Amino acid sequence: MIKNPDMLKFIHLTDCHIVKDGGAVYGQQPAGRLRAAIDSINSEHHDADFVVITGDLTHHGDDAAYEIFARELRRLSIPSHLLVGNHDDVRTFRFHFPEAQRCDCGFIQGSKRTPFGLCLFLDTSQRGSDVGRYCEERQGWLKGVLSETSGPVMLFMHHPPFAIGLPDMDESRLEDAEAFWQILRLHRHRVRHIFVGHAHRMVYGNWRGLPVSCMRGLNHQVALEMTSSPKGQYGNFEAPAYGVVLANEEQIMVHMHDFMDRSDRFIF
Ligand SMILES: [Fe+2]
Repeated sequence: MIKNPDMLKFIHLTDCHIVKDGGAVYGQQPAGRLRAAIDSINSEHHDADFVVITGDLTHHGDDAAYEIFARELRRLSIPSHLLVGNHDDVRTFRFHFPEAQRCDCGFIQGSKRTPFGLCLFLDTSQRGSDVGRYCEERQGWLKGVLSETSGPVMLFMHHPPFAIGLPDMDESRLEDAEAFWQILRLHRHRVRHIFVGHAHRMVYGNWRGLPVSCMRGLNHQVALEMTSSPKGQYGNFEAPAYGVVLANEEQIMVHMHDFMDRSDRFIF
């Protein structure tokens, strides 16, 4: 059941990078950013059906950070679905969110039925590495879900299985992209969209014909530097954003909401 039977509406939020109370990441206050995002969702998009947060909920994966994250999330007026990223610690996450969906093999994977597609939430984390992983156990779960169901699907995952053209970020994309593709290939006509995080940029396009989008991070962004620098990848503080997604049988539209923008409004 969704609020408007003619249109599914959900929020795509990603890469919160929360740290312990009062802590900063690269000089910014991630908890304050999350609070502002939740205030914005509660006031502007309380008619949305749910929020999906595609990983890197915390920066160091520690208890104190998950406590802050959970405290802020309790203020959200609509349901949420949480994924883990390379900055998360799965065991600590599970302790703080015991109700989070898990597949039979213990990974943070699950699904949600909507009238306009089955949402599949994937776990691409790999303990001790920033690189994305989709191991055979997880592949088995995805194969099973896809073979036992029919109709359209929307996929949510932290690591992109594709390169976005930023060398340092591309090095940590999903390392099992080919095996992942071989599963999707058989169901490619059902895959309506792949929503990802990790890249800390708004990116959209398609991967082997499948529509994809990545949303800006909440605390910091990755600079648009397409050549490798000996110093490494630059970050910057372009404004945070979340996605507002509208989906029905005909279309999926993704708006990037620059929710902290305070520029003047006017009437055309
Ligand atoms: Fe991140």
